[in-house]
Amino acid sequence: MATQDELKQQVAEAAIAYVKEGIIGVGTGSTANYFIDALAKVKGKIDGAVASSEATAQRLRSHGIPVFDLNSVDSLEIYVDGADEITEHMHMLKGGGGALTREKIVAAVAKKFICICDQTKLVPVLGAFPLPVEVIPMAQSQVARALVKLGGIPKLRDFTTDNGNKILDVTGLKIMDPVALEAQINQLVGVVTNGLFAARPADVLLLATQDGVKTYQ
Ligand code: A5P
Repeated sequence: MATQDELKQQVAEAAIAYVKEGIIGVGTGSTANYFIDALAKVKGKIDGAVASSEATAQRLRSHGIPVFDLNSVDSLEIYVDGADEITEHMHMLKGGGGALTREKIVAAVAKKFICICDQTKLVPVLGAFPLPVEVIPMAQSQVARALVKLGGIPKLRDFTTDNGNKILDVTGLKIMDPVALEAQINQLVGVVTNGLFAARPADVLLLATQDGVKTYQ
């Protein structure tokens, strides 16, 4: 039986089939790290990558893969990233690694979002995993109070994002309508963004299972 790490590596390697040419977007986290390691073996196919975090940029560079500023790129063919949870509707909950804002920005520029996950990430309803909300530091208490009014229980993470902000991890939310909740939380003054990726869902889910990698699209 494959371990969770082996499943992450298998699905990351399966995503290489989607790498064609040009510049690609690369996500953050342990599954994305396996993807970067696999990408290094075919780096001659691409011009380089746009990174969704400083950690990803560093790992790409360590493999000799050029890292581009997103502002120098018109569009990306694909964005490859993991998720903390995903539904069969391709709505995702992300940001466990704290990179949600840059992930959402890079994903927005990509024509195709390829989500790479092990089987534990596929859920019927989002929200068992705490929802990360990136906030401007001076607004963290005010946003926390607003999140309580929405029925959530926010907890300040001991972490500073690549953008110099803080993260509130919110439990207790019943996420029956991820598109609506994503928009509602983003409208709170002081919120940079939240970890619901529903307005722009994944286009392809590669899911590593004990019976092999399954493709949903
Ligand atoms: C990073 O901020 C997250 O959005 C990751 O994509 C997510 O936490 C998945 O992480 P793993 O691949 O490490 O499980």
